[in-house]
Amino acid sequence: MKKALYLLAGLAFSAQWANAQSLQEAYKDYFRVGVSVNQWEVKAEKEIKEGISYSGAVSLDQTADYEQIAQHFGWVVPENCMKCEVIHPQEGVYDFTLADQLVDKALANGQQVIGHCLIWHSQCPPWFFVDEEGKQVSAEVLKKRMRDHIFTILGHFRGRIVGWDVVNEAFEDNGSLRRSKFYQILGEDFIPLAFQYAHEADPTIELYYNDYSMNKPAKVEGVVNFFRPLVAKGLPIHAIGMQGHMIYGDGDYVQQYTHSIKTIASIGLKSQFTELDLTMLPNPFGFSGANISDQAAYKKAMDPYQDGLPKEKQEQFDQFWLDFFQMLIDNKENVLRATFWCFNDAKSWKNDFPIKGRTDYATLWDRQSKAKPTVQKLIDMAESLEKKNKKEKKSNKN
Ligand code: XIL
Repeated sequence: MKKALYLLAGLAFSAQWANAQSLQEAYKDYFRVGVSVNQWEVKAEKEIKEGISYSGAVSLDQTADYEQIAQHFGWVVPENCMKCEVIHPQEGVYDFTLADQLVDKALANGQQVIGHCLIWHSQCPPWFFVDEEGKQVSAEVLKKRMRDHIFTILGHFRGRIVGWDVVNEAFEDNGSLRRSKFYQILGEDFIPLAFQYAHEADPTIELYYNDYSMNKPAKVEGVVNFFRPLVAKGLPIHAIGMQGHMIYGDGDYVQQYTHSIKTIASIGLKSQFTELDLTMLPNPFGFSGANISDQAAYKKAMDPYQDGLPKEKQEQFDQFWLDFFQMLIDNKENVLRATFWCFNDAKSWKNDFPIKGRTDYATLWDRQSKAKPTVQKLIDMAESLEKKNKKEKKSNKN
């Protein structure tokens, strides 16, 4: 009898510590885990029919991957289909086909969607900034276009998308404001205006600023100094997104991002990592950042792992993500979410950036959509931490 009781108690104990089956489950007490999704993982109907390839990648039906995407990620972000050139290709002409497919699929799988992105100088069609004669529009006209763009899109997705990257990449790496068309016509006001319009269009959703190279102190400080007075005056902004396109061996990201998270927290905002990936390939010309118009010429020496990533490189990759996730856990009070950019290596944009046509290994799933060892190691790390915390709680009680 006594033995049976012990057995029952043991079973209850292990059930409580049951192994998490996914990244989102393992990290649920710390932050939300997400991934970007492209139309071929949802349903590439439109793309296949019209032969469109928004990112330059081959069009392929990868819908079979969605099962793993839904298992591991509670949040998805569209990789391309909500960008201006796709969703609003001409003035007043909106095309929600791909975006609706993605949102419907995510909601049907119990996931949440973050919108990416409303105001960005890249992947923004030229009509946005010129009149019928091709002359640059006035500040008033651009404001009206921004307002219409934001109101129409947020109106369309009302109740289905919980947060949006409102402004993307408005700063240079030295912390100064980028001289984009938005800036040239409206000055720095285009940033708070975009947040104001988004809040007016839908006061129920979260609004984010998003940028790359946010590990660089000059950049994060430039961004934070810009937003400090606006936040003090009540600007409707909920978090700052740091893209996190990283290059293996390029500096101490853990230490740098810890500094960035704390700097952002100093103005009362949370941080989120919005586009995580890690290139394992050589770095051309000390390149950094994610400015999509930066391109370097292909050289074979820059593409050394065409037949597979060596074992020691895979181990370095795994250790990198363990250290990175430990840093996120250590800063959990100030970190909202960690989102990976692209589900698998086959479809990762890093194969074509900043050099076209390389074989990179930047994501957590391999070219055959098989989880790399990294995934289980990340789950195990969270699990053992949970066990340790529970043990400590228990011994504190006694
Ligand atoms: C990239 C996509 O992954 C590619 O498919 C596309 O060709 C170019 O844009 N910063 C961003 C993302 O905010 O939207 C970019 O996505 C990567 C850099």
